[in-house]
Amino acid sequence: MPRLSSTVPVDLLVANRSREKPSPRFHWPIPTKAVGDTHNLSTARLVAEAAQAAEPGRATVLGCGTCTEIPIRLLNQKFTRVDLVDIDARSLDIVKSQCLRWADPQDSYVFHRADLTGLIAQIRLRAQELASEELEPVHYLRALGESLESASPQFWTPSDGAKYSLIVCATVLTQLQASVREMVESVFLNRFPGGSALFSDAVWRQRIWSFARNLEDAFIGHLDSLTAPGGIVFLSDTVHVSWLTAVDDRTLTSEGSWIATRTSSIADYLRPWHEVLKADQWDWFREAKEGPYWGRLYGVQVILYRPSREWAP
Ligand SMILES: C[S@@+](CC[C@H](N)C(=O)[O-])C[C@H]1O[C@@H](n2cnc3c(N)ncnc32)[C@H](O)[C@@H]1O
Repeated sequence: MPRLSSTVPVDLLVANRSREKPSPRFHWPIPTKAVGDTHNLSTARLVAEAAQAAEPGRATVLGCGTCTEIPIRLLNQKFTRVDLVDIDARSLDIVKSQCLRWADPQDSYVFHRADLTGLIAQIRLRAQELASEELEPVHYLRALGESLESASPQFWTPSDGAKYSLIVCATVLTQLQASVREMVESVFLNRFPGGSALFSDAVWRQRIWSFARNLEDAFIGHLDSLTAPGGIVFLSDTVHVSWLTAVDDRTLTSEGSWIATRTSSIADYLRPWHEVLKADQWDWFREAKEGPYWGRLYGVQVILYRPSREWAP
C-alpha cells in the first residue's frame, strides 16, 4: 500500500484545507479487502492507458514509492528508459529488488533518489540557523513559515535534460509539501519538544497552507518543462480526505471531508493550454489505524493531460 503523508493529527490537515466547510457527517458500510484494492487497480489501468496513448521515448514516475499503483513492467516494455524518482531509499530498494526478481530481458529502469522539490536541504539549513537564535516558540515558528514561503523550489530534472513522452505523478502532488513541512516540524520539535504552537498558531497555519498550494502550482508548471512535444502527464491525488471511525463492526462514520488541494478539483491546477485527455475519480477506503480512527476515506481524482506547449503563451 503506498504511504501517504504521515500527518496524524486531523488538525494539521485542517490547517491545509481549502476554505470550504467540511461536508456533513456520513455513514458507510465497512468495505471488504477486495474493495480496498480497487484504487491500485484503477490507477494501474489508467497509467496503462496513458502509456498506450504516449509516443515511444522516455517515461518517468515521480514520487514512485514502491510502485504499488504503477504497472512499471508495462512501462519497461514500451519505453526506452523509465526514470523512477523518490526521496525514500527504502522504497526504491524494494522496487529495485522486484525488478531484479522479474529479470525481464529489457531493463530500462533507472533509479534516482532525490528530493523532487529541491527544498528540503535548503530549508533544513535555514531552520537550523534559526534554531541557534534566541526566539520564542511562536516567533521561531513564524520565521520558519516565512522561510518556507520565500524559498524557491529547485525541482528535479534528469541530469541529461531529456524530455519525457510520459510523466506519471500518482498521489505525489500533495505529498511534496508534506515532506518539506514534516522536516521543518521535526526541527521545530527538536528545539521545542511538545511544540503546541504547531497546532494553535494561525499565522503559521496560514503560511504552510500558502506554501503548500504554491508549491503544488509551481510543480505543475515544472512538469511542462519535463514533457516532450506531444507528451502525456498522468496526475492523480487524494483530493478529499475523511477520517473514519468504526461505529460497530459493519459501519464507518466521519465528521466530514477535507480538501487536501487548493480547491475541490485537481483540474484547477491545470493551465489553459493543457489539453485534458481523460478524467476520472473514485473513493478509496484505506484501513490503517490512527489513534481512534479506523482509517481514511480518500476521494481520488485523476487527469491525463497533454501540456501541448505549442499553445503556451
Ligand atoms: C503516496 S506515495 C506514492 C505511491 C506510488 N504512487 C505507488 O505506486 O506506490 C508518495 C511518494 O512520494 C514520495 N515523496 C514525497 N515527497 C517527496 C519529495 N520531496 N521528493 C521525492 N519524493 C517524494 C514519498 O517518498 C512517497 O514514496
